[in-house]
Amino acid sequence: MLIAGNWKMFKGPEEAADFCRGLREADIGTVDVVVCPPYVSLAAAVQTLSMTEIGVFGQSCHWEETGAFTGEVSAPMLRELGVYGTLVGHSERRQLFGETDETVVLRTNAALARGLQVIACVGETASEREAGQTEAVLRRQVGAIAAGVAETDDLILAYEPVWAIGTGKTATPEMAQEAHAICKSVLDVPVLYGGSVKPDNAAELSSQPDVDGALVGGASLDVESFATICREASHS
Ligand code: PGA
Repeated sequence: MLIAGNWKMFKGPEEAADFCRGLREADIGTVDVVVCPPYVSLAAAVQTLSMTEIGVFGQSCHWEETGAFTGEVSAPMLRELGVYGTLVGHSERRQLFGETDETVVLRTNAALARGLQVIACVGETASEREAGQTEAVLRRQVGAIAAGVAETDDLILAYEPVWAIGTGKTATPEMAQEAHAICKSVLDVPVLYGGSVKPDNAAELSSQPDVDGALVGGASLDVESFATICREASHS
């Protein structure tokens, strides 16, 4: 069971170090835990969590190692900082920054080749779900990863229905289970659930047989709320 906190564009280096000091002292149960700070706060998080089991992940990485790619960072740069893995293909990257199934595969392969773990995100929008296309969308998104990425133990998927992200609407445990089973039928790797995971729904969601953890956005920004989610998930 893995609980990952996606900070998105929150917490500069000072706040990141404060948070990580708090997390070091908190009771996070028995789950594996990682945090995904913005790039500028990665070094502070790595340093503050250095003597712990808590991993630090980036939020994306480019597929080239160096080059004229303004605004991007590469897998070797993340490694040099002591970063352990990276998110790839978050729906905000797909919707706002032109990420495609193809670039998700490129980024995933570059990260894996450099020894980073990858949490690759997939999920349908509200209109796709309403149109009955959830399964087709997941098969397309996960299928692209399955076709383009060699078998590895370092790859994890996150099923994040776009309509549940930051909205307070959560997939029911049954909906999550169904979607996770579809993902795993295409690519047999651990699958995290993401989308409005909170202290009060973490246990039920993570008790589903094919839910292997959670990718938490808003509720990961507060130490007590994030630690409570980790403890809740530890029981299931
Ligand atoms: P949320 O975000 O928990 O705030 O819905 C999840 C995510 O985007 O990873």
